[in-house]
Amino acid sequence: MQFFKNQEALSPEYLPEILPHREAQIKYIADILSRTTKGLSQNIFIFGSPGIGKTASIKFIFRQFQEYSNIDTIYINTWDYNTPLAILTKIVISLNYPIPRRGLSKDEVLEKLIEVLKKLKKGLVICLDEVDQLFSKDQSVLYDLLRINQYVDMPVCIVMISNYKDILLKLEPRIQSSLNVEEVEFKPYTLEEMKDILNERCKEAFVEKPEEGVVLICANHAITRGGDVRIGLECLRKASIIAEHDGKLKVEHVRKVLNQIKSVKMDLMKSNLQGVEKNLVDILSNYKTFTSTELWKEYCDRFGGISQNALTEHIKRLQQIGLISIKESRKESRGRKVFIRLMKRKKFK
Ligand SMILES: Nc1ncnc2c1ncn2[C@@H]1O[C@H](COP(=O)(O)OP(=O)(O)OP(=O)(O)O)[C@@H](O)[C@H]1O
Ligand SMILES: [Mg+2]
Repeated sequence: MQFFKNQEALSPEYLPEILPHREAQIKYIADILSRTTKGLSQNIFIFGSPGIGKTASIKFIFRQFQEYSNIDTIYINTWDYNTPLAILTKIVISLNYPIPRRGLSKDEVLEKLIEVLKKLKKGLVICLDEVDQLFSKDQSVLYDLLRINQYVDMPVCIVMISNYKDILLKLEPRIQSSLNVEEVEFKPYTLEEMKDILNERCKEAFVEKPEEGVVLICANHAITRGGDVRIGLECLRKASIIAEHDGKLKVEHVRKVLNQIKSVKMDLMKSNLQGVEKNLVDILSNYKTFTSTELWKEYCDRFGGISQNALTEHIKRLQQIGLISIKESRKESRGRKVFIRLMKRKKFK
């Protein structure tokens, strides 16, 4: 039987049919932007942590607008178009007006844009995603875009998206005063919400529903690592590759993926160690358990003298970063013994 219905649905670039738990924000933003058809212009600033549907929501709205409304939309990620000239050129080209090959100056492109917009019989919404990129460099294009409504009949709205709420404070005063911006906060998803989102993606991706527990583990993994949906999707995607020849996505496949992630992280941490800590991990790398005195003696034999106290400090640090485990014996009569060993991969978090 076929395993994937649509494998693409697990990719972060895929724009799903529905965006659970963003309905309220989508409606709110779409309502504001729809007013452009009545000649009203209102800019929007969306902020919130990574991977919680900011870009997806605006693309979702734009898709709706393109199908059902009299509003033109242009989406620009300012990482890809990071100079005023590049942004203005992209806008003019998106409106189907070619820019001569010889290239134009920024002012010439701006003039061209105004000329084009004067002829436009539709409202226009321009999204500047990851706008921080722009704020830290040249803000002039924002100034130009914000003032453009003075010259054209149909309104132009700007939607800005960022991870940081206070980014607007970095704007020059002349820009701040012409912002006319409505702020929309995107809050992180709860575990239940993350589960719903991943469940919906699974419905689109797989012929057969994954085993009970699969989505919960992936959702939990994403939430404990900052709440980015992409992390949950990546977990599902990798597990689905392992699962494909079994015909059904199961908990064991997800566990395999998570263990791989842990061991990669552990190798990465190990490779970043230096000096005493690197030597300690070398000694412990056969997973044998040592008492603190045994470990100290072994260390001195192999790597030369170090005081027991100094070694203890390094051991504590390795414990703090989660590379080794330390247990104390309960027998207090003959003095407490401390047992040290490298953390087992499968327990490594
Ligand atoms: N409510 C949702 N329903 C379905 N998929 C979602 C939802 N929220 C986020 N996603 C998915 O999660 C991934 C990341 O979302 P998105 O790109 O919108 O994040 P973002 O908030 O723009 O993050 P960043 O700040 O890093 O740009 C995308 O694949 C998106 O489709
Ligand atoms: Mg984004």
